Amino acid sequence: MARELITLQARGCAIALEPVEGGVPLWRHFGAAGLPAASWPLTEARMQPPNALDGDLAFAVLNTHGLGWFQQPSLLGSRAGDAQGEGGDWAQQFVVDRIDHDAQSLRLVLRDEVAALGLELHYRIDPDSEVFTLHAELENRGTTDFRVDWLAAACVPLPPQAGQVLGFAGRWALEYQQHREALGIAAWRRDCRRGRNAHDTFPGVIVGTTLADDDGPTWGAHLAWSGNHSLLIEPLPDGRRQLQLGEWFAPDELVLRPGERYRTPDALLSFSAGGLNGLSANFHRHLRTNVLRWPGGRMAPRPVHLNTWEAVYFDHDLAGLKALADAAAEVGIERFVLDDGWFHRRDDDTRSLGDWWPDARKYPQGLGPLVRHVRGLGLQFGLWVEPEMINPDSELYRAHPDWALQLAGRPMVTGRNQLVLDLSRAEVSDHLFGRLDALLREHEIAYLKWDMNRDLATAATGTGHRGRAGYHRHTEALYALLARLRAAHPQVEIESCSSGGARADAGILRHTQRVWTSDCNDALTRIGIQSGFLRFLPPEIMGAHIGPRSSHTTGRTHELAFRAAVALFGHFGVEADVRQLGADERAELARWIAHHKAWREVVHHGVLRQGTLGALAWLQSRAQDGSAALVALYRRHEELPRYSPSLPVPGLDPARRYRAQALHVPSLHHARHGAPVFDALREGTLELSGAELASIGLPMPPLPPESAVVVGLRAVT
Ligand code: GLA
Repeated sequence: MARELITLQARGCAIALEPVEGGVPLWRHFGAAGLPAASWPLTEARMQPPNALDGDLAFAVLNTHGLGWFQQPSLLGSRAGDAQGEGGDWAQQFVVDRIDHDAQSLRLVLRDEVAALGLELHYRIDPDSEVFTLHAELENRGTTDFRVDWLAAACVPLPPQAGQVLGFAGRWALEYQQHREALGIAAWRRDCRRGRNAHDTFPGVIVGTTLADDDGPTWGAHLAWSGNHSLLIEPLPDGRRQLQLGEWFAPDELVLRPGERYRTPDALLSFSAGGLNGLSANFHRHLRTNVLRWPGGRMAPRPVHLNTWEAVYFDHDLAGLKALADAAAEVGIERFVLDDGWFHRRDDDTRSLGDWWPDARKYPQGLGPLVRHVRGLGLQFGLWVEPEMINPDSELYRAHPDWALQLAGRPMVTGRNQLVLDLSRAEVSDHLFGRLDALLREHEIAYLKWDMNRDLATAATGTGHRGRAGYHRHTEALYALLARLRAAHPQVEIESCSSGGARADAGILRHTQRVWTSDCNDALTRIGIQSGFLRFLPPEIMGAHIGPRSSHTTGRTHELAFRAAVALFGHFGVEADVRQLGADERAELARWIAHHKAWREVVHHGVLRQGTLGALAWLQSRAQDGSAALVALYRRHEELPRYSPSLPVPGLDPARRYRAQALHVPSLHHARHGAPVFDALREGTLELSGAELASIGLPMPPLPPESAVVVGLRAVT
């Protein structure tokens, strides 16, 4: 007898569970849409294998030790034993109390009376983006403490064919590096224990059959959490794999007192039959409509930034900064962001974090004169802060040494000479709110660059070695502080920066509107960094700056056009000393800023595709209504072919004609003669239909290494 399935379906993806009498529903499907309403029960489709426990366990929505689950359970936790050694409750076994189900959501209410635990599993589908949001919530119904070591926010099946994984690695100035591996017989796992989601462990993973750019079944999972996390893909005895993701806890970090509950962060999952780009489009849509919260409820055109960091570092001088703002305004900058170095005695990175008032030597009349000057030029003013941190050499530390997270009796562990404040203490968060609130009240500040420059080693509070780990509490307190600040100053945008891109996820993005992607402004390195970033996160929040000609992090030198062509696809800005540029370079910079303004609507609201072909990398963004597209092709290094391949631009209207206008084509010293089609591309007289663009593609000129072609396509019919 076929059994009715519990399903949640969108256009392109679906999940299906099989209800089980008295037990926890089984996983039947997570993947393509088009499911039947009912199916054979799994028990009738599987023979009992030899040498297995009787009643061999199938993969359920919640797998626990209780019945004999030998892979990683969804819940790991226990009670401390009493004097007689009684306690435990580590081998749980849940039954279903209730199932609430409508077209877009599902709630499973479970209980384990023996272990005195209640547990809820929540599933929600957003039909527009095709992203599922899952979370779990555990309740301690016992009379003693229950220690939680792991609770998966999501635990879902992957079919045996999904044998390729794309994970993320990195380090400072080299974030979001994509690594492809074949899944094997052992588990694949990434843990983050740094207290922020870190340069080396972005909380997302993609699995597919081929991991091709535009086709093939592809699954993606992302944890909306800015602290520690674990991602696990583990083979199951039936040939499938389980994917689990959730928060990583330090030993004894999470202990539920009787009656207490723990809710996991949200896990975002999606499936696309359209390869990596199909999957990214789902996540971009989801973040745009369900996660990001803009001042006034709508994203205004992203203002072009001038960031002072690589222009002046700590060397702040009022007259010089005013001149920098003048030069920035002339080339078309719209927001001036004053970076590190503006506050009390901050001349380098050894001191003063915590002392959030203007340095009286550099700003004798406070920030007012500079803010007014910038505003007078018609630019917005933005300010760098790093509120979660404290330098031992600061007035704040001298007044409140106990506010920093450290363990008494242990040596002080600093990073960039700083300690982390214990935000979970109300007086600490109140103090920070007070300082920031005062700055925002005193000055017309439109934007905060909220930095966070160290890992949370010994994120613990308490005395002696007994202090309890405070990673989870730190992240929660950070969200609360950001929310409080945004409620008090709803017009202020906030950027999430963490030594570049060490804190980017859908959790922090509920409170922030931009991510500083990387401290590396080298355009060549940025191609890979931004490619990884864009797998889950949309381009309009991706901070992307034109850095100095010679990169401060790699020493490589690039023409302005290459630097601009790479930054063009993000939230654009300049992080260089515009005052030092000659007239020609200023004019060229102004042209690129104007190009960005002309195309940001398409890039920041459009559908993004990306890919590589040998040493070539390309990006395309097309308007949702198919009226325009911006296309870039980058050459990373030389290759044998003498010609560049044409670049297909699918997704436009096949029947309409588009005029191609090159924003930039590099000049080649050794070209023997031109080609009419590239002259037309330069002159903006080349016209192609959407059908031609999709099949034959856009002709591309040869490119020297570390150069780019950028072409805008606008419908003319
Ligand atoms: C971090 C940020 C940089 C800059 C410096 C200032 O490294 O990522 O952009 O703000 O701090 O100290």
